[in-house]
Amino acid sequence: MAVKDSELESFLPSQISSPVSRRKRILHKFALLGWILNIIQFAIICYGWIYPRKPTDLECTRQLNAWSPVFDVVEYEDVQFSNAFFQPSPYKGPPTPELEKAWSDLWKIGTIDVPYELLPALNKSDDGNWLRSDKGGILAGLEVFHSMHCLDMVRQYTYKDEYDYSDNPTFQDDADFLRSHVDHCIEALRIRLMCYSDITPFLHRIEPGAELGATPDFDTQHKCKKYDKIQEWQRNNHARAAKGQGAEAGHGHSHNPSR
Ligand SMILES: *[C@@H]1O[C@H](CO)[C@@H](O)[C@H](O)[C@H]1NC(C)=O
Repeated sequence: MAVKDSELESFLPSQISSPVSRRKRILHKFALLGWILNIIQFAIICYGWIYPRKPTDLECTRQLNAWSPVFDVVEYEDVQFSNAFFQPSPYKGPPTPELEKAWSDLWKIGTIDVPYELLPALNKSDDGNWLRSDKGGILAGLEVFHSMHCLDMVRQYTYKDEYDYSDNPTFQDDADFLRSHVDHCIEALRIRLMCYSDITPFLHRIEPGAELGATPDFDTQHKCKKYDKIQEWQRNNHARAAKGQGAEAGHGHSHNPSR
């Protein structure tokens, strides 16, 4: 036996000749692999520190807003405003039927549905008093269209002695109520503008003829939500008040954007 074993040893390749050293080598390999994995992991962590991943626009929108059904539709674009003092605009100047339509097209696009489960995300409790929609959830409007309705209304109010708004439901209210409605709208816009607090700097161009020798340049650079995407979503997701809630008659004093 002994002779045979030693004979065998001399024929076999050295690395598998001893079971003990073979096990050692395997352990060594595992230790080395472990170290390499550690180093790779550390490198990845360092990379993450040095070059943190930029959050996507959607992530930023979600972080900086209460929940909205429109999150996934929001897209941003870089825009330099074109808002010089005498710059013409289809929304500017004395009312005409075309100008009135341009304005109402900005916000008169109805209401939408919000699922009940999302009440907490809107910091609202389900007290069972919310007007339901015909889609099974709660009837809702989007703030942007309410703001736009308000701005439109304030604009119309400044022209009310020069233009006939008698077939506009808002202007059918009595004078005191109309005044309160306008005041509500100014307040709504104040809150909205303060909440948004546009912090973009605007500059001043030297202009010898100008009163103070310079004029402000309001053509400021902005990142804007694409308004037409939001309008399009709202049009495609139209919901009405569900029937039989005793609210259909609506005496005209709500600020429902569908009005
Ligand atoms: C939720 O709304 C209540 C008022 O109804 C307010 O006091 C509270 O601060 C709101 N929560 C948050 C997180 O803003």
